[in-house]
Amino acid sequence: MHEKSIVRLNQAVADEMTAVHRYMYFHFHCDDQGYDLLAGLFKRTAIEEMVHVERLAERILFLKGEVELVAAEEVQKIHAVAEMLKLARAMEEQSAHDYNLWANECGNHADNISKKLFEDLVADEERHYDQYDIELENMDKFGDHYLALQSIERSKRRASGGPPAD
Ligand SMILES: [Fe+2]
Ligand SMILES: [Fe+2]
Repeated sequence: MHEKSIVRLNQAVADEMTAVHRYMYFHFHCDDQGYDLLAGLFKRTAIEEMVHVERLAERILFLKGEVELVAAEEVQKIHAVAEMLKLARAMEEQSAHDYNLWANECGNHADNISKKLFEDLVADEERHYDQYDIELENMDKFGDHYLALQSIERSKRRASGGPPAD
């Protein structure tokens, strides 16, 4: 039942897996470069995308489908922070766009639970879009100072024996 929904749900799983991989890659590299604020942001968002995978997988199994746990796209080896944020923002925009369409599709063939799930995900992806957009605005506004400040924050925290950022 609901074969069409299962196809869309699996497409979403593949996109979410891509996001998990890319955001974790960005997390490692921001952490390596000393940018704790962004490292934390990418990590927390990757975890939220992982929860999306879980919710989608539960729905697929409920519909008696098989979860195709593969990423749609590969990790791009981006190390420049502005490029990371631009890619992440574009990914969120695309996801919000796709999930809106797929919510409507599911509704059109009387699968309102999948519809509701896609609508819930749209709300999260729009919030993710906004958080990356704000960071890009900060970079535009403050230039290199924006990144320098993050490195200084880490040094201060380490010098005072504070806990490491996540
Ligand atoms: Fe997501
Ligand atoms: Fe997202």
